[in-house]
Amino acid sequence: MKKLPAIKAVDQDVTDRYAIYQGDSCELIRAVPGDSVHFGVHSPPFEGLYKFSGSDRDLSNSEGKTFWQHYQFLILEMLRITMPSAWPEMVESFTTCLWLADYIVAFRKPGDNPEPVSGALKRYVGEGEGPDYAKFTTDNDSRNWFSIEVWQRYASPVWMDIRQTRTLQYLTARDGNDEAHISPLQLDVIERCIDLWSNPDDIVFTPFLGIGSEVWAAVQSGRRGLGFELKDKYFRQARINMTREIAAVSADALTALEPREGEEEADDAPETAEDMVNELEPAS
Ligand SMILES: C[S@@+](CC[C@H](N)C(=O)[O-])C[C@H]1O[C@@H](n2cnc3c(N)ncnc32)[C@H](O)[C@@H]1O
Repeated sequence: MKKLPAIKAVDQDVTDRYAIYQGDSCELIRAVPGDSVHFGVHSPPFEGLYKFSGSDRDLSNSEGKTFWQHYQFLILEMLRITMPSAWPEMVESFTTCLWLADYIVAFRKPGDNPEPVSGALKRYVGEGEGPDYAKFTTDNDSRNWFSIEVWQRYASPVWMDIRQTRTLQYLTARDGNDEAHISPLQLDVIERCIDLWSNPDDIVFTPFLGIGSEVWAAVQSGRRGLGFELKDKYFRQARINMTREIAAVSADALTALEPREGEEEADDAPETAEDMVNELEPAS
């Protein structure tokens, strides 16, 4: 049985909640077993937007047909590693001179999901006040109106209530020596996707870790994170972000995700980093 650490990564951090690796995701992903990742969310380095490094391995340096050949390899691998019926997901950014909009493009792997996502939404993420739990949930009504109210907001075809400045870069701004990052994905977007399309303790994957946003948000949300990043400086920043920020806030976030009275608690969470790695082991 091969273990995840056998991946030829330049550097890595593996804990019981996340595993982040420095290297080319096109290579690293091949060591991840099939059907082992529950959900994926990432923002791709699209050609023509921003060059992250001078490396040929960097997708942002591939253009035209070559870009899609490069990306297609990763897309096929993401399909392979994702569990059936889960949602490997991509977020595209398009910019014009007048406005900036991000598009969420969701993909679902065919097949029956052995672990369907059916949990209630337990928090509201976004601008403004969330629904009032007391107002939307009464003792004599078993339906979770709070969750329904949150879902109705998220069901809007356009999310105008994303806090654009709530990014990991923003959260780490107080540390003067942190490297500025050109395009961290908004945490509100990531957290909404995670809440909508994954279960607690699920493994959330990104092949483009950047400074760590998706993995950070996954851990914040009571999931586990798996991420690959090519660029040394971004990986180092992700490593710092993971250790500094999660220690400060994850306890609150995880408490908020604890099941309410009468709800069942997941009992299959891995206890250690080794358990998490074992879960990712390929069948021999
Ligand atoms: C749009 S940024 C992702 C930012 C990330 N969502 C965040 O919030 O920090 C794309 C990232 O992909 C990385 N990248 C490009 N090609 C890569 C490859 N082949 N393997 C791993 N990472 C790669 C770039 O270095 C860059 O950090």
